[in-house]
Amino acid sequence: MGSARQESSGERYIHGHHESVLRSHRWRTAENSAQYFTPVLRPDDLVLDLGCGPGSLSVDISAVSGARVIGVDNARAAIAAATAEFNNNHMVSFSVADGYLLPFADNTFDASHAHQVLQHSTQPVALLNELFRVTKKGGAVGVRDATYSHFRWSPENQNLQEWLSLYLDLARNNDGEPDAGEHLATWVTAAGYKDLHVTQTTWVFDDEATCAWWGNLWAERILSSNFGLQLQELGWATPEKLEALANAFRTWATLADARFEVPSTEVLAFK
Ligand SMILES: C[S@@+](CC[C@H](N)C(=O)[O-])C[C@H]1O[C@@H](n2cnc3c(N)ncnc32)[C@H](O)[C@@H]1O
Repeated sequence: MGSARQESSGERYIHGHHESVLRSHRWRTAENSAQYFTPVLRPDDLVLDLGCGPGSLSVDISAVSGARVIGVDNARAAIAAATAEFNNNHMVSFSVADGYLLPFADNTFDASHAHQVLQHSTQPVALLNELFRVTKKGGAVGVRDATYSHFRWSPENQNLQEWLSLYLDLARNNDGEPDAGEHLATWVTAAGYKDLHVTQTTWVFDDEATCAWWGNLWAERILSSNFGLQLQELGWATPEKLEALANAFRTWATLADARFEVPSTEVLAFK
């Protein structure tokens, strides 16, 4: 069922794993999402990618660094997608695991990574404590999360504003933190990591192709993924409202001056 709770932690992942969600995650690369992290990796390092989703970013981190990557996710659908697509890649493997209770011995990994994961956690410091435990002394952690309330777009659009308000409320209703980017440094410090490097990078969609991709993606996510289902379950949006929000994304994407910015904070730190 689309809105089921995650198998292991009992948390409700706001997006679910509809094809439109996985398509969004598959767009992510080491270049657009992990440049702050990959330079510290060496060939043959063993890296844990927590909350790897469909695995594309795990595979690209391995490709640019030469590191071996183990991707784990507590959603079976995500691991099934990753395994099906990357079965032949001998540098990367995937398994279902709960980030709060990782099936690895202390000091196993040279580095650990979690991209757009902590925002969905009810206990982000507990997740970071687990990453700390399984990482070798001196090893790196790289975490990157968006700050949703800093999303910006043009031209102004009341329906997109309403979409963002609903997103922020729903994420908090699930006990997540949609502005996780603002908290990352505090959480990483609380988990015991040192020597923090805090940077910010932004995904920008501002030409015909990238706006069409982003706008149509979100239109589909609103209508078909867990996001829309949960809004209806809670009585926060009718099917007509969801249709209006999706149409707003589709129409926005066709405008000559369309632009959308998705800023994230990233923290590189060491055990
Ligand atoms: C927004 S997706 C990010 C996927 C991937 N890191 C990327 O950036 O493309 C967040 C992922 O974290 C997973 N996740 C959330 N909480 C988790 C937990 N406690 N343990 C393991 N995986 C978790 C979700 O199932 C989801 O696949």
